[in-house]
Amino acid sequence: MNGPVSIEVLKQHLIDPEICIRCNTCEETCPIDAITHDDNNYVVRADVCNGCMACVSPCPTGAIDNWRTVLRAEAYSIDEQFTWDVLPAQGTTADDALRAGQAEGGVGAQAAAEPAGIEVDTVRGSTVPPWSAAKPYVNLYTHKAPLRATVVGNYRLTEAATESDIHHIVLDFGTTPFPVLEGQSLGILPPGTAPDGRAHHARQYSIASPRDGERKGYNNISLTVKRVTQDYQGKRVDGVCSNYLCDLKKGDTVEVIGPFGNTFLMPNHADSHLLMICTGTGSAPMRAMTEYRRRRRLKGATGKLMLFFGARTQEELPYFGPLLNLPKDFIDTNFAFSRTPGQPKRYVQDVMRERAADVAQLLRDDSTYIYVCGLKGMEDGVLQALQAIADQHGLAWETLWPKLKRDGRLHLETY
Ligand code: A2P
Repeated sequence: MNGPVSIEVLKQHLIDPEICIRCNTCEETCPIDAITHDDNNYVVRADVCNGCMACVSPCPTGAIDNWRTVLRAEAYSIDEQFTWDVLPAQGTTADDALRAGQAEGGVGAQAAAEPAGIEVDTVRGSTVPPWSAAKPYVNLYTHKAPLRATVVGNYRLTEAATESDIHHIVLDFGTTPFPVLEGQSLGILPPGTAPDGRAHHARQYSIASPRDGERKGYNNISLTVKRVTQDYQGKRVDGVCSNYLCDLKKGDTVEVIGPFGNTFLMPNHADSHLLMICTGTGSAPMRAMTEYRRRRRLKGATGKLMLFFGARTQEELPYFGPLLNLPKDFIDTNFAFSRTPGQPKRYVQDVMRERAADVAQLLRDDSTYIYVCGLKGMEDGVLQALQAIADQHGLAWETLWPKLKRDGRLHLETY
């Protein structure tokens, strides 16, 4: 019998374990919970993924954008994917079957077409950069070929008496290029192995310095790192990489991969405004953008900067002193302290509401770009504050929000 063969071929979505930095962005972004992870890998459930692509552009490394043509019956299970160190090569069976099916007009090849590309509006922020952002470099250095950087500075930013131990760490790349833009991140490979005997995964940190160097004209960058001493439930846990970094001495070397990130980037047109909202170490990209604007201001950048910055107390707010020294006509800085003795608890979203008229003025302007970085919990609160402010001032949030997202003007990075 030579009739058409019934074969169901699938374009299976996979994540490259060699490049993935386990930042959880894909899992958070997936609107249908097709992505999951264990201690080893992030993986995609073949029977759930519908190829909507919502996860693809937010992925900072591009590890998410991998596809293999397989017979549906032979799709890689998540248990198999959990064990991988590298992606499997494209096999031939499915390709042969696909070609045979197509040649014979066979049934079942439908799922092997390009991913569905359906419109997904569950993504809360932009998945595209501002139109005027510079083109970033990504993945120049990988797990297999990291770059070695030298520590040239490591300073505690928070008062010694406080619980929050936040460091400003400066890394120098010598003569090897490590080109970055404000808003990008890098990965640090901590030495040693995890309890399962495998090398530790890279940990991702936002870069706190502008593109032209922590020190202008130098090939160095800075990071803002908080020493992790407890987990989300308050249980004692010593963060592997944060403790490693905070304990580094001048002259030590570290392995760096990256850079990562191609959407959380600043606009480059001179009259663009930045509305920046952050807590704690989420201040790193805001510092980078602010400093770049400060350097550019001398060359005629005219856009406004407005910052909302939350911390437990003034003593625990990184860069408090330097921020206060910036001219008031350059940046409108607003602090929110949640644990100042004798004072009511204030979060960034509370202070945004107090400054509603000025926030609304920025929201009204198509040249305003919004950046939110810090604790996961703040994301809802900040979006609700933006909604309330917009609605009160006759700017229908329902139409403004999708427009901000579409135009690369609302960037969210929370953890
Ligand atoms: P809190 O005192 O309630 O923890 P951290 O020091 O843990 O990085 O936190 C930085 C700041 O963010 C703190 O002031 C913290 O307040 C605040 N914060 C915690 N949860 C939220 C939230 N849901 N929205 C806004 N800010 C928050």
